[in-house]
Amino acid sequence: MDRIVVNGGRRLKGRVQISGSKNATLPIMAAAILAKGRVRLDNVPNIRDIKSMVAVLRTLGANVVNGGRGTVTISTRRINKPEAHYELVKTMRASILVLGPLLATQGVARVSLPGGCAIGTRPIDIHLKGLEALGADIRIEEGYVIAEAERLKGGNYKMPFASVGATENIMMAASLADGTTILENCAKEPEITDLANFINEIGGEVNGAGTERIEIVGKDKLYGASYSIMPDRIEAGTFLVAGALTRGDVTVGPMRAEWLQSFLDKLSEAGVNFEINDENETIRVFPPYEFKPVTVKTDVFPFFPTDLQAQLMTLSAITEGESTYHETIFENRFMHVAELCRLGADIKIDGSIARVKGVKELSGAEVMASDLRASAALVLAGLIAKGRTVVRRVYHIDRGYERFEEKLAKLGANIIRDRDAANSPKK
Ligand code: UD1
Repeated sequence: MDRIVVNGGRRLKGRVQISGSKNATLPIMAAAILAKGRVRLDNVPNIRDIKSMVAVLRTLGANVVNGGRGTVTISTRRINKPEAHYELVKTMRASILVLGPLLATQGVARVSLPGGCAIGTRPIDIHLKGLEALGADIRIEEGYVIAEAERLKGGNYKMPFASVGATENIMMAASLADGTTILENCAKEPEITDLANFINEIGGEVNGAGTERIEIVGKDKLYGASYSIMPDRIEAGTFLVAGALTRGDVTVGPMRAEWLQSFLDKLSEAGVNFEINDENETIRVFPPYEFKPVTVKTDVFPFFPTDLQAQLMTLSAITEGESTYHETIFENRFMHVAELCRLGADIKIDGSIARVKGVKELSGAEVMASDLRASAALVLAGLIAKGRTVVRRVYHIDRGYERFEEKLAKLGANIIRDRDAANSPKK
């Protein structure tokens, strides 16, 4: 297993090239199942979650070729085993996204229930109710969801909560249903719009993505196409925090500010200067910095993303005064807090609220990564902690960030990755 070692104290400076979005790529790869022809995807990030999705598609019988430099081609003509195993689904919950496309194309799908994961129980009831609204027959057997339908029928469904994954799963299934589907109270995340754009590119008809009402006109057949994935707004936000934390001068791009608006509003409240260049699609944070405490509440898009909560909290950890973070999306998403406290932060958790009292400085220590975004936050904290911070179990970071430490090193961070002898099996 690898670890990341950071020596804090360097100001970051320079430009970061933002990779393709993980959360857009995963559903779009699943949606390739809907296409009769070959799908070519560009700007696919080279991260572990994508490798997991490639593994899922291959076990189904798909032909997936990683052409390098962010290009992946998928041909699902030979899918013959509409089943996603527990072993794969447990390593990546987003594997559940193959359920809708498999059902729509094969008439049957058997997908393991994801089970609990580090950031909460995360049920899939909304995915299942939505597919039932399209006429699917669903039962749970031995930890697997078994969904059947000869041909799905367009239907109406109002989601009780604007779930990102459920919106995507239902939208994909409805694209090959007989008739039109109206989905209400949909998630509005930009990645949903990217998925809708992809479906439209392969011959589908999805209207209203990015709003709370999506209309999907079902087609008899969808085709192959090429598509370039949108950039990763969470990666961009993470590097903007890194730049601000170190009182540096960092530009991220390509990125559209509208995808990060609520986050940028909080950066501004936190006393961070930034400038947006719409033409070049870049955002830059720069000195002078006069940090201020913030009140953050995570919520569905367009509100503050839960996926940036941990990272911004590192900034509050060194900001005089009290900041509060209210997590409303996941019930167990403060796992970075105990580790930040090991670095000297003063943070108390009260149910779904974290109260952060700013301290003068953090000091390096050994910490353990627990989930994707929590681990990124620990590396950020290491950038400003006095001395040496060792972040263990960095495979969590590798799930969602492409060459994270390399990109930070390019900005001037004193950071390396090496083999964690203490946490590796003996040869
Ligand atoms: C997606 C993102 C993840 C992000 C999250 C919220 C991907 C691959 N992942 O996850 O990075 O943190 O959106 O922005 O895109 N829920 C139910 N029943 C359901 C579905 C969800 O109760 O059927 C609950 C979940 O337990 C959770 C909340 O709804 O508490 C949000 O989940 P959801 O929006 O579905 O997130 P994901 O699609 O899993």
